[in-house]
Amino acid sequence: MTQSVPTSSNSVSPASSKFLTTAELRKSFIDFFVSKQHTHVPSSSLVPYNDPTLLFTNAGMNQFKDCFLGIDKRDYSRAVTSQKCVRAGGKHNDLDNVGYTARHHTFFEMLGNFSFGDYFKKSAIAYAWEFLTSAQWLALDANRLYVTIYETDDEAFDIWHKDIGLPAERIIRIGDNKGAPYASDNFWAMGDTGPCGPCTEVFFDHGAHVEGGLPGTPEEDGDRYIEVWNCVFMQFNRQPDGTMEPLPAPSVDTGMGLERISAILQGVHSNYEIDLFVNLINSAADLLGIKMKTKLP
Ligand code: SER
Repeated sequence: MTQSVPTSSNSVSPASSKFLTTAELRKSFIDFFVSKQHTHVPSSSLVPYNDPTLLFTNAGMNQFKDCFLGIDKRDYSRAVTSQKCVRAGGKHNDLDNVGYTARHHTFFEMLGNFSFGDYFKKSAIAYAWEFLTSAQWLALDANRLYVTIYETDDEAFDIWHKDIGLPAERIIRIGDNKGAPYASDNFWAMGDTGPCGPCTEVFFDHGAHVEGGLPGTPEEDGDRYIEVWNCVFMQFNRQPDGTMEPLPAPSVDTGMGLERISAILQGVHSNYEIDLFVNLINSAADLLGIKMKTKLP
């Protein structure tokens, strides 16, 4: 691996030497995973097909739920998507945060790579790190990245620490912090039932001028350290009575907010300042005859 290893958390350096538009980022993500033998699958409908457990598509993995459960067999075992999502109700409801944070939306796009019984933790983590930090791809400053893991996931810890070279103090263990077994920011579930598993999340430090603390601290909800990528290690099928049945094969489901990673690559703090929104805001102003131009990043 050619990436540099982070050594310091006190960085004010640029996020990356690159600037990418939202469209370029989406393409770059898909190109990267296609180069790793993933099949590019189109975004599915916002209204899930044949799934009474969901009102709207809330994650890239929804259209692959039956692949994780071993019910549906495709002619590929690796996929990459940019999925349109709505999180305005149900288990993953961001509605109360919209308008209050720099990073939440009701409607957004989620970049994701998926393994259906193919690769697991080691490759999922290596791919995420390579895409984020290698000079050929996003070239993010590794000094500004932190990760969380599920409290008991020593395997993920070892991969981040020994294989990737991330210092131990940048790997934060998060336990069941939501009041029940497996109710954790680092244990992802699609809904009350269905595929689920421990996850590791990558956070970007927007800098000391922004309020907020590291995950696991009382200030974690601030906008300084923003979660950009969630890599879920799908291992269980949660039953209505709460029991966790092992999936037929360990799998991977990842999700990265396109608007969040765009903000980082465009050197702005708020998702609403990225090219996508600035163009929308300016067009709306034109249509309304309002003389204002928000500058593109
Ligand atoms: N399903 C996970 C999430 O939505 C990873 O894509 O965060």
